[in-house]
Amino acid sequence: MSANFVALTYLFAAVLFILTLKGLSSPATSRRGNQFGMIGMAIAVLTTLTLTHNMAYILIAIAVGGTIGAIIAQRIQMTAMPELVAAMHSLVGLAAVLVAMSAFNDPVAYGIALPGEILHSSNRIELFIGTFVGAVTFTGSIIAFLKLSGKMSGKPIRFSGQHWVNLGLGIVMVGFGVVFFLSPSWTPFLIMTAIALLLGVLLIVPIGGADMPVVISMLNSYSGWAAAGIGFTLNNNMLIIAGSLVGSSGAILSYIMCKAMNRAFLSVILGGFGGGEGAAADSGDGKQKTYRSGSADDAAFLMGNASSVIIVPGYGLAVARAQHAIKEMSNALTEKGVHVRYAIHPVAGRMPGHMNVLLAEAEVPYDQVVEMDEINNEFADTDVVLVIGANDVVNPAAKNDKSSPIYGMPILEAHKARTILVVKRSMATGYAGLDNDLFYLDKTMMVFGDAKKVVEDIIKSLA
Ligand code: TAP
Repeated sequence: MSANFVALTYLFAAVLFILTLKGLSSPATSRRGNQFGMIGMAIAVLTTLTLTHNMAYILIAIAVGGTIGAIIAQRIQMTAMPELVAAMHSLVGLAAVLVAMSAFNDPVAYGIALPGEILHSSNRIELFIGTFVGAVTFTGSIIAFLKLSGKMSGKPIRFSGQHWVNLGLGIVMVGFGVVFFLSPSWTPFLIMTAIALLLGVLLIVPIGGADMPVVISMLNSYSGWAAAGIGFTLNNNMLIIAGSLVGSSGAILSYIMCKAMNRAFLSVILGGFGGGEGAAADSGDGKQKTYRSGSADDAAFLMGNASSVIIVPGYGLAVARAQHAIKEMSNALTEKGVHVRYAIHPVAGRMPGHMNVLLAEAEVPYDQVVEMDEINNEFADTDVVLVIGANDVVNPAAKNDKSSPIYGMPILEAHKARTILVVKRSMATGYAGLDNDLFYLDKTMMVFGDAKKVVEDIIKSLA
């Protein structure tokens, strides 16, 4: 295939990737956005195949990787998506490190040096940056995977002088990078890679449960830059463009999520720098707190007689797969003349847009789904709020308790409604491991049980 044709098809694929991002910016167009992405990726992969010399190896690798990916995608639960994404990011990071290593081992094969020639200085810088970003992404994503999947505690792991240790390691790593630049050899290369691998661990371990959403999107951004780094090593424009799109959109998403959670962007990317100490502890003050509980019939009675109901969905709704039942329940309420809306917190669930995706799957009309900033003023005028499988995103400690690790994070102000119904299985804490005073208010009624079962009972009672 001629170089011009390759450039043209890559350009076409790049345009499709940009249309993908545009499509993904709204739930109404996201399906089309995904389709653009799939077509763009197919074009990019097919074009790249025409450039390869060892087609058989590549096809075997695609068959093995594709089969594993297809099996995992079939089996994965929606609620386990974040850890899958973290695992995928780690592979991008590992690929960047391995490509840099093999390019350094045989630069002639990669077309970045002539036989007997030493690596050009710009290639040495590329190899250093690609390896560093890839290694941090690799181990950082593994820690994120372990935390998100519950294989490791979500509590922040901190020790005194942690940031100085990170800074020191960063300086030593750059020092070995300079040694590698001046006289490329394996010793400084391997030492700087080992330090970058360690830094990836140290940057993610101090980040607590409630801040994990930002970590996911930040690692997404890192993995994009790592891919762009591979693109430079391989002299592949498509990889540079696609990597930069992932890197920059991930960075913008991280910034938006930091704003949504009232966290300083720099403090998160530097590994929890400036975050409160001893996060994710129970806020219990030793006093016995009391709560009220009721049945699904009580909840149906209260909602059926209300004029307005706001539903606050959270992670538990996804676990119970109750999205279709909740849609049926809101239809039944609407038929009774109740004004029903859904309030969406940007980090409800376990991944960005989790609740929007669930509600879209159940075909909840988009005009009933309202984002946090828009709906927060309306809770005070609302008869009943139904908090279903949500916890941290309605915890008033974020507003009232300066010692709370989530203090300052915006919440859905469900506590302002006239009556609050909370559906969950027990009084257990949510992801951030914090007790929630909302559950102990006089106007709150707990309805214990699996979200789907409780909603089905409410529907029966409404009928
Ligand atoms: P959480 O605070 O985790 O609360 C979910 C609640 O659902 C739990 O308290 C649990 O209580 C209940 N639950 C679980 N299974 C249930 C079931 N089958 N039926 C009924 N209830 C069930 O969730 P949230 O309010 O959505 O907040 C999200 C949290 O996750 C935040 O801390 C956020 O920072 C973090 N996080 C978010 C993301 C993204 S990007 N969205 C990513 C990672 C982490 P019981 O056990 O008593 O039932």
